[in-house]
Amino acid sequence: MFLEKHLVEDAVVARFDLAKQVIKTAGELALDYFERREELVIETKAEPQDVVSIADKNVEQIILRQIQEAYPKDNFLGEEQGILKGDNDYLWVVDPIDGTSCFVHGMPSWCISIALMQADKIAFGLVYDPNADELFTALSGNGCQVNGKAVKALNIDSVQAGVMGVGTSHRVSSTHCLHFLQGLLDEGGMFIRNGSGALMLAYVAAGRLIGYYEPHINSWDCLAGLILVQEAGGSTNRFLENDGLLEGNSILVSAKKIHHQLDHFTRM
Ligand code: IPD
Ligand code: CA
Ligand code: CA
Repeated sequence: MFLEKHLVEDAVVARFDLAKQVIKTAGELALDYFERREELVIETKAEPQDVVSIADKNVEQIILRQIQEAYPKDNFLGEEQGILKGDNDYLWVVDPIDGTSCFVHGMPSWCISIALMQADKIAFGLVYDPNADELFTALSGNGCQVNGKAVKALNIDSVQAGVMGVGTSHRVSSTHCLHFLQGLLDEGGMFIRNGSGALMLAYVAAGRLIGYYEPHINSWDCLAGLILVQEAGGSTNRFLENDGLLEGNSILVSAKKIHHQLDHFTRM
């Protein structure tokens, strides 16, 4: 892929190249655990639907080790590890397995998500689906690619023109999601939830879904997906406002021309 080097610093391009290798290695390890998943001990976190296994922890560690070897001064935020302070303005934001519930129950809709923040901007994002061997990548200013091939968000002007991804969790009241679904369905729209917010965001970037909404999502679930959608020409809400990085926030991304209408469905 030709990169307009004047738009992206060499230091960011070097990290992007590393991230592409790291996410593939992590994907191989995760897939190996997935194929032996009956051996995994499953633990629950704050609430019963929030599950985690040794696969999540070890895949994150392998990602962290490779980043630290190459860039010991970079900051790191991983779902399992939490925050590790470094000594510069790069921050890696990692979800080792997004869609853990699907993973442990034998469904293939899970992925790995890696993003790099440089100060307050997302510099790049990658989502890797090892089952489909699909790598979604976006480097700021250089478009969005799936396995190296350029993709675009849909160019549609009606919510009836395709399927909307919707997610929710027990971190927030069910009323937000139900209110959104009512607005969408009443306008003739349709929805899907595959259990991986990161993968559904990547699908919006690839023009497979018309958008994605979730009333609360964490930064490790969505930073990579946000830049994928932006670079694919879609619209995104201001997720990082109000400390979205550390506290999470609501997320709405979509094809450009329907964003306003979808945003209206989120208003209670
Ligand atoms: C979850 C998934 C799910 C979304 C949740 C996330 P996890 O992440 O992305 O689709 O609805 O908000 O917490 O626990 O599978 O990494
Ligand atoms: Ca996640
Ligand atoms: Ca996870």
